[in-house]
Amino acid sequence: MLSIVVLISGTGSNLRALLEASADAEYPARVIAVGADREAPGLAHAEEFGIPSFTVPFSSYDSREAWGAALLEQIRVWNPDLVVLSGLMRLLPPNVVEALTPNIINTHPAYLPEFPGAHGVRDAIRAGVEQTGASIIVVDNGVDQGPIIVQERIPVLPGDTEHELHERIKPVERRLLVQTVLDIANGLDLGALSTRRLPATIKE
Ligand code: GRF
Repeated sequence: MLSIVVLISGTGSNLRALLEASADAEYPARVIAVGADREAPGLAHAEEFGIPSFTVPFSSYDSREAWGAALLEQIRVWNPDLVVLSGLMRLLPPNVVEALTPNIINTHPAYLPEFPGAHGVRDAIRAGVEQTGASIIVVDNGVDQGPIIVQERIPVLPGDTEHELHERIKPVERRLLVQTVLDIANGLDLGALSTRRLPATIKE
């Protein structure tokens, strides 16, 4: 059974999808704890499912490094096989990423490497593209630059607001996340993805 700690900042709809999937005895992964960097509304999902949670408020620490060290300490209490960043709206400091990678994945509401960063949905609308997407990646020390595990295209419709487009992306993110966790539980090697390098030049 793959054990997971999920980290959130917001409404936790991706978290809820994992909690619902875990409720199926045949799903080979379990959320064992949920962490947040603030009093996130999504922590209510953990409570509803009887899953322990912890909050490490970013605002209580002097530096990103100090906050990250406290967060890592909490994560280590649970010794999970996998950490899922699911709407955690904070950049993890390098020492935390290095301690957890490649067993740390992130969901992103765009077709990476297009539109990385905190405003992937807004940036896609502003760029006027006809399609964006959803991606699940391994977290490394870049901003949304880790190896892509899976991604799917989603059309941008004429007149879409950021909220409307995000609401169409999120169900795809949830499906991809639940499938990715299943694949990892079934042996998908995140380490092999992490070390994958494309050749610098392709010779004809
Ligand atoms: C998701 O779109 C995630 O990719 C982004 O923030 C959203 C979180 O949604 N970083 P939720 O908190 O899981 O509902």
